[in-house]
Amino acid sequence: EESKQIRLEQDPALAAAKEIRIQDATAHRGARVRVSGWVSRLRTQGRDMMFVVLRDGTGHLQCILSGRLCHTYDALTLEPEAAVALYGVVREVPAGKTAPGGHELVVDYWEVVGAAPGGSEAFGNRLNAETDPSLLYQQRHLVIRGDTASAVLKVRARVMRAFREHFDSVSYVEVTPPCMVQTQVEGGSTLFAFNYYGEEAYLTQSSQLYLETCLPSLGAVYTMAESYRAEKSNTRRHLSEYTHCEAEVPFITFEDLLNIIERMVKDVVARVWAEPETRAMIEQLNPGFAPCDEPFLRMRYEEAIKWLNDAGIKRAEDGKDFEFGDDIPEAPERKMTDTIGRPILLTHFPGPIKAFYMPATKDDPRVTESVDLLMPNVGEIVGGSMRIWDHDDLAAAYAREGLDPAPYYWYLDQRKYGSCPHGGFGLGIERFLAWLTNRHSVRDCCLYPRFVGRCQP
Ligand code: 4AD
Repeated sequence: EESKQIRLEQDPALAAAKEIRIQDATAHRGARVRVSGWVSRLRTQGRDMMFVVLRDGTGHLQCILSGRLCHTYDALTLEPEAAVALYGVVREVPAGKTAPGGHELVVDYWEVVGAAPGGSEAFGNRLNAETDPSLLYQQRHLVIRGDTASAVLKVRARVMRAFREHFDSVSYVEVTPPCMVQTQVEGGSTLFAFNYYGEEAYLTQSSQLYLETCLPSLGAVYTMAESYRAEKSNTRRHLSEYTHCEAEVPFITFEDLLNIIERMVKDVVARVWAEPETRAMIEQLNPGFAPCDEPFLRMRYEEAIKWLNDAGIKRAEDGKDFEFGDDIPEAPERKMTDTIGRPILLTHFPGPIKAFYMPATKDDPRVTESVDLLMPNVGEIVGGSMRIWDHDDLAAAYAREGLDPAPYYWYLDQRKYGSCPHGGFGLGIERFLAWLTNRHSVRDCCLYPRFVGRCQP
């Protein structure tokens, strides 16, 4: 009752407060500032002290409210996740005390911008009520407010910027191909079909074919676009929608392609690692991580089959040895990669288990100029290859695969007007992040994951 009467007013004798973001607090030590954000943590000490850890997306700031500031109705009903504006002076924390950034805001006035409920509706209770961890994806809009989820999203933003910086440094041009298409790239079984003004169309599986058409006008190109796969399997590395970083380069050899992929991965890691805040987040999420400066191991598919058999790893379906021509499933692939314990450029896969556009190797026509990059703890993060660049060879590939070439007229035209040897690759951003930040699942490496049975929030 009494608290409802207490009204706070700003002391007119105080200096005007400058609005800052938490990341700029160090530069404003000693000055009076206003900081707006969300109450991340809240602790009350007696009647006259409240400690608020404020979060604004740029960092965390410990804030101290004392005396009358703790006696108002707003103070007594304050709950975690309320939006507030706090005014005061940023001071270095006293010797022996720690706080984010080494300072705290000594508040002299504050306001609630948007309150948050307590009781059964309290933020913490909403998340704790969920006993099945997979159902937490239903509350993903709340989960992303947490320190871990938001750190992954920040590293993700930095990683996407690093890919763009990398491609810029090698003068590849960014393009944005359409996501609504009428062709398949990676096989019909994972296509999402939809009704496009009465015609059948699909959500794209890969922008590769469009990137290939850009080579004569733009030279080497790249894109960071969403790709879609109707994956029926519920695994920790498959999403139905993912961010696909793809590049395509003209006038290269297969050897060049392997070097391009290896240099890119190392350069992107070096760029994020060079930034202290990002590095600190990676170290927190993935203790012990260190950028790999050794050459990636290069291994042929055939050697991998031999490795699996030597290691006594058997096929799941019949318990027999792997044979040349078998697809290497996720579990044995991971076992091999984890045992070897370093990045592997796995090359020369047999044609029948790979996409229609991959050319046979000259010295061994059983296999193709194809590559997967495998990372410990995750497995495949990159798939790439050279592309069949001869018109008649490509037409023959369509016939062999039983694909109607008609909707691909534009892709075939590419082989008619100044074709050239070229190749490229696609990297799944979520898989790269699962590796870099040591997340168990790619589902935790995107904003709102889409997978079998989930298209919300
Ligand atoms: O190996 P994929 O299928 O290759 C292609 O799509 C080529 N057309 C790319 C190209 O050459 N331009 O996919 C490439 C990468 C995989 O290595 C993986 O990282 C990711 O895309 N990926 C997925 N990520 C999450 N969920 C899925 N369902 C994924 N499918 C592929």
